[in-house]
Amino acid sequence: MKVLLTGGAGYIGSHVVRAVRGAGHTPIVYDNLSKGHAESLEADLIVADVSDGAALRVALEENEIDAVIHFAAFIEAGESVGEPGRYFRNNTVAGLTLLEAMRETNVKRLVFSSTAAVYGQPPVVPIEEDSPLVPINPYGSSKLCVEYMLRAYAQAYGMGFVALRYFNVAGADPAGDIGEDHTPETHLIPLVLQVPLGKREHITIFGQDYDTPDGTCIRDYIHVSDLADAHVLAAGAIEPGMVKVYNLGNGEGFSVKQVIETCRTVTGHSIPVVIGSRRAGDPARLVASSARAMRELGWRTKFPRLEEIVTHAWRWHSNHPSGYA
Ligand code: UFG
Repeated sequence: MKVLLTGGAGYIGSHVVRAVRGAGHTPIVYDNLSKGHAESLEADLIVADVSDGAALRVALEENEIDAVIHFAAFIEAGESVGEPGRYFRNNTVAGLTLLEAMRETNVKRLVFSSTAAVYGQPPVVPIEEDSPLVPINPYGSSKLCVEYMLRAYAQAYGMGFVALRYFNVAGADPAGDIGEDHTPETHLIPLVLQVPLGKREHITIFGQDYDTPDGTCIRDYIHVSDLADAHVLAAGAIEPGMVKVYNLGNGEGFSVKQVIETCRTVTGHSIPVVIGSRRAGDPARLVASSARAMRELGWRTKFPRLEEIVTHAWRWHSNHPSGYA
């Protein structure tokens, strides 16, 4: 199978490229390199933007693409609150451009990177896929709009889709040669690890007055290599006219304080903390039920333990303190 990965030079994309190759398929990356890193890639690269429908059509047709995995997007919930237009343009409008390009070139299979942010502040955890969809930030809304488009395109044109709702993706390939490199970094684990790397003096905890046992937000951290495997399974499972939605998490929640404690254990560094105020758009608690992905896709995680996730992240960051630079 020839698979086009939009945003394939990014953190998650580069790990999925590896998984796609490992499964015997041919990955072709389509990325504007605004955030991605060509150095991470073991695949052909087309440097172009997902908002460019003509370039997408050429890429799909000339490479005889069988399936698309769509990562290219802005991903920061907090930023999206202050800059909603950028999120709807880059995530929702460009998503529509991609669907149209696929329709025009008769490419009928897509795996879509969705997010736990579509659930907003869930009434019950673990969250099942049929929980209410009430995003509390524009990032979540911008992704949910695309999920609605998938349903319409499946019905109208017989295209087949899987939307994967990621929880908190973390860690790095155990080989230690690819990993997370965002500028600026906003995610908790890489930021905490900057303290033992000597790149920051402390980590700021964004609020300790949430309704959780230690007052800090609870998230479900999933290893990026496990997440990558789910994409290969999803791409292989798509059938015409189908829309399936799967949560991808470990089913266990860790508070910000627990994550910091695990980073102390893994790195042997004391990691000082400062308590700050809440960050806009943060729900208190997000924990996945991934039972459906396990049942229907046969997905199994290899690295479910937080300590292993942090160990692999630390291996990458300590060997590449400046990322790919
Ligand atoms: N946090 C801090 N200090 C920091 C950074 C983060 O306390 O310096 C806290 C956040 O407030 C949050 C938790 O750590 O409570 C995790 O924050 P991240 O920024 O690492 O991740 P988010 O939960 O905000 O978002 C991530 C992805 C989204 C995705 C979401 C789904 O970035 O794309 O997970 O759970 F939608």
